This record gives sequence, C-alpha cells and structure tokens, in this order.
Amino acid sequence: MSGTIIRFENVTKQFDQDPAVLKDVSFEIERGKFYTLLGPSGCGKTTILRLIAGFTNPSKGKIYFDGKLVNNVEANKRQVNTVFQDYALFPHLNVFENVAFGLRIKKMKKEDIEKKVSEALRFVNLVGYEKRQMKEMSGGQRQRVAIARAIVNEPEVILLDEPLSALDLKLRTEMQYELRELQRRLGITFIFVTHDQEEALAMSDEIFVLNKGKIEQSGTPTDIYDEPINRFVADFIGESNIVSGKMLTDFQVEFVGKEFECVDQGFDTDETVEIVIRPEDLEITSPEQGKLQVTVDSQLFRGVHYEICCLDEAGNEWLVHSTKKAVVGDPIGLHFEPEAIHVMRLGETEEEFDKRLEAYGEERNATN
Ligand SMILES: Nc1ncnc2c1ncn2[C@@H]1O[C@H](COP(=O)(O)OP(=O)(O)OP(=O)(O)O)[C@@H](O)[C@H]1O
Ligand SMILES: [Mg+2]
Repeated sequence: MSGTIIRFENVTKQFDQDPAVLKDVSFEIERGKFYTLLGPSGCGKTTILRLIAGFTNPSKGKIYFDGKLVNNVEANKRQVNTVFQDYALFPHLNVFENVAFGLRIKKMKKEDIEKKVSEALRFVNLVGYEKRQMKEMSGGQRQRVAIARAIVNEPEVILLDEPLSALDLKLRTEMQYELRELQRRLGITFIFVTHDQEEALAMSDEIFVLNKGKIEQSGTPTDIYDEPINRFVADFIGESNIVSGKMLTDFQVEFVGKEFECVDQGFDTDETVEIVIRPEDLEITSPEQGKLQVTVDSQLFRGVHYEICCLDEAGNEWLVHSTKKAVVGDPIGLHFEPEAIHVMRLGETEEEFDKRLEAYGEERNATN
C-alpha cells in the first residue's frame, strides 16, 4: 500500500510562555519509506516524534494519520511505536520478556506471544538470546532488542530517536546497514532522528532538514546535497565553500571579483546571491589553468583524500578534497565546471525554490 500515512498541517508547539519550539510546520509522510529528521540540538526533532506518537499535543494546527484527525487520540490508540535514544528497556527482564511486554499488557494468548516474539527476534538476528539479561547484552544487541520490541506490535510507523548515537563508529555503521535493510524487509514507515548529516544521507529516502523549529528543506539525499536551498542547509549537509556573489544575467554569475558561467537562471539582474561549491568539485591545476588563483594554507590526510585549505587574494577560504597531495605555501589554480556552482537566492522559501527549479526544468525540456 502506498500513499500518505501522516500529515502535519500548520503545526505549532509552544510550551508555556516560551517562544514556540515548532513554528507552523507542514509535511507529509508516505507509507513504507525511510524518513530522517535532521538538525542541530534543540531544533525540535524529538518534539515532532512526540507529537506523532501522541505523547504531547500541538498548540495549533492539525495532525492526520491515515487521513483521520488524531490531535486528541491517545498515544496507545495510535499505530506507532517508538525506539527511544536510551532504548528504555527493562533491566530486570530478559530479552524475551522485554519484547513480549507489550503483548502481555494486551493480554494476548501465550502461544501467540511466543510465536510473535520469536518472529521479531528472528528479524533482528537475536535467536538464541531469549534468556539473556539486559546487562549481558552489548550496546548494538540492546538496540536490536529495542527494535524487536517495537516491531512485535506490528505498528504502521516506527519512530527512532537517535538510536545509534551511543554506539562506536564501526558498530554504528553496521547498524545503519542493518536498520535500512530491516526497514526494506518489513516495509514499515520509519521516521529516524539524527543530527549526523552523513547518517541521514546514507540511510534515508527523504530528509527533512530542521532549524529552529522550522523545516528548511525536504527532499531526497541527492536533492538536498546537490541543491541546498540556503546557507544553513549547505553548511549543515556536507562541507561547503560559501561566498556571496551577484547574478549578472541568466547563466552568468560574479563572485570574488570575477565572472563565471553557471547553469542557474530566473534571478533578477544583479541580484545578490550566495554561492556554494562543494570541496570535491574543485580540482587543483596550475595557477594559469585555474579559474581561481589561491595559495595552499594547510592540508590534512583523511584516509581516502586530502583536505586542502586554500586562501584567495581576498582572504576567502577554499576547501578542496583531492586525491593528490599539495604543498603548503604553493600558489595553485582551482578549476570547476559551471554545474559545480550552486546559486542560492537569499531568504527564498522552500515553495519558491521548488517553483523556480520546476520552471527551469520545464524550460530545459522545451529547448531540448
Ligand atoms: N516539556 C518541555 N517544556 C519546555 N520546553 C521544552 C520541552 N520539551 C522540549 N522543549 C524545548 O523545545 C526545544 C526543542 O526540543 P527537542 O527535544 O525537540 O529538540 P531536539 O531537536 O530533539 O534536540 P536534541 O538533538 O538535543 O535531542 C528545545 O529548546 C527544548 O528546550
Ligand atoms: Mg532530541
């Protein structure tokens, strides 16, 4: 089954007299996809999950589940299960009983409980661990118990609040694969919270980038990486070189005092804009061949590539990712293609941004 499963319509959440922590937030969640809420600490990620789960109510706006208004539907009546950051497992119960807990509360028959718990444990690869106590389980295993406890209830949506943040890097990467694979096999909608942009890019069908209680941009990982709507998103998703510039005419932009060909259009003449160029889109050349002339200021080896920091004459920093080593102090050139220049309009809303991209998508097709 496809279609919208959750819809937020102009949802605002305010605690007491404080400023609102969510401001007029609207979005749709489609069934069976993997969504990620990404944003810095305090931006409202957990609050969105709590609103979906029904642990708290919106101050304004409407929340729909399967097309039905659920603003006043209690948490235990919603088809949602949450995996909390600390997993909230019962330390005095073994693995089997932790997973069975919700089913026992529902007074399910003993044979059914056994069948369902075994199935859930098989799904998360924990067959044989039924009698283990929680203190005998590793961090990754505990996390899987928490997921088994969520899926055993066969919810339509699973909410995961930074479930991997306590794990070390290697286990974390393993669990990213496992979680994504599990979501595909189950076909359940996952809404995953993280403040780690790489994790969000690796795992999601759709990402919502949040900042100060608002969604700055939503889209697929490649949409958001390739076409960040503004400085915040460009900065938050991956490393970027951001400078201010001026759109001279369609396909012609000026920054750091030079003119460059670009692929953007639909701006006002001489409109002030911001320019993003990703470090991996900059190529080191001789100073004569480069579109920009810079001096190598410092460099770090990152395992696969060198991270080279350069300075131009105006003192702007240019970060370059290159497999070639540079020499600190050397004058070099930087080459980039017109497509590598991403032009962002100041203060553009997501709706305006989408319209502008759509408009030139159509024009491009028309000229082809
Ligand atoms: N019960 C509450 N009463 C008052 N303020 C709250 C309450 N819960 C959350 N807040 C505030 O709402 C804002 C958003 O909190 P939220 O927990 O949603 O952030 P978050 O994005 O999950 O952050 P983190 O990444 O640190 O977990 C914060 O400023 C927080 O202090
Ligand atoms: Mg949180």
